[in-house]
Amino acid sequence: MSISIKSEKEIELMRESGRILAKIHEALQEMIRPGISTLDIDKKCAEIIKSYNCIPSFLNYNGYPASVCVSVNDEVVHGIPSKKRILREGDIVSLDCGVIYQGFHSDAARTIPVGNISKEAQQLIDVTRQSFYEGIKYAKEGHHLHEISEAIQNYVESYGYSVVRDLVGHGIGRKLHEEPQIPNFKQKRRGPKLEAGMTLAIEPMINAGRYDVYWEADDWTVVTADGSLSAHYENTVLITKGEPELLTI
Ligand code: MF3
Ligand code: CO
Repeated sequence: MSISIKSEKEIELMRESGRILAKIHEALQEMIRPGISTLDIDKKCAEIIKSYNCIPSFLNYNGYPASVCVSVNDEVVHGIPSKKRILREGDIVSLDCGVIYQGFHSDAARTIPVGNISKEAQQLIDVTRQSFYEGIKYAKEGHHLHEISEAIQNYVESYGYSVVRDLVGHGIGRKLHEEPQIPNFKQKRRGPKLEAGMTLAIEPMINAGRYDVYWEADDWTVVTADGSLSAHYENTVLITKGEPELLTI
């Protein structure tokens, strides 16, 4: 049991996988507007993934039935696309997608406004995204993994928001989920030492209210227990001796 170090050749494939996923996210973001269904997003996503000769890594993963997770408002992650779920002005929608390119996974998530949204909702989106950047200040060879976790938590809590505890980020490569687990909150240990060639999916999931979540009856959709809004931001990151390389931007 250990964290895989990718070779230069493997890193090149991870880069291509990530570049493609970044383009997919751009295309999905452009289609977000009031009136579309969350299933419309999944259909478009499946089409684009195919056009890049990639495989949708989420589809059939532990039985998950779609190519993209679409989570609206108080849904934290793993919302299942449905033709009955119509986006409305003022909603926020989290899109989480993963692809496999020549055997290598990439994984990224964005929370997108639907039309005009409240200042509060926009701030939640912005703080969630920024918490990722606060975290990756420590995503460098020689630092310890949980320095990332702690930096994310400190930033988020300074706004009165909370970090979801039940779900974490992960190593990524030939598999969607590799070691290590990457919590977005402080740990009692400092965690493994980071080394160049590690590839990590760092993904803060942030609630405007309390951190407690529950699973809906579909056994996938995670929602905030207090009904508050939730946002998600994720990139696949390559650890180097210097600044981290963001593979899905
Ligand atoms: N990005 C999520 C993760 O890293 C989504 C995977 S769950 C799936 O775990 F079932 F939809 F694949
Ligand atoms: Co992930």
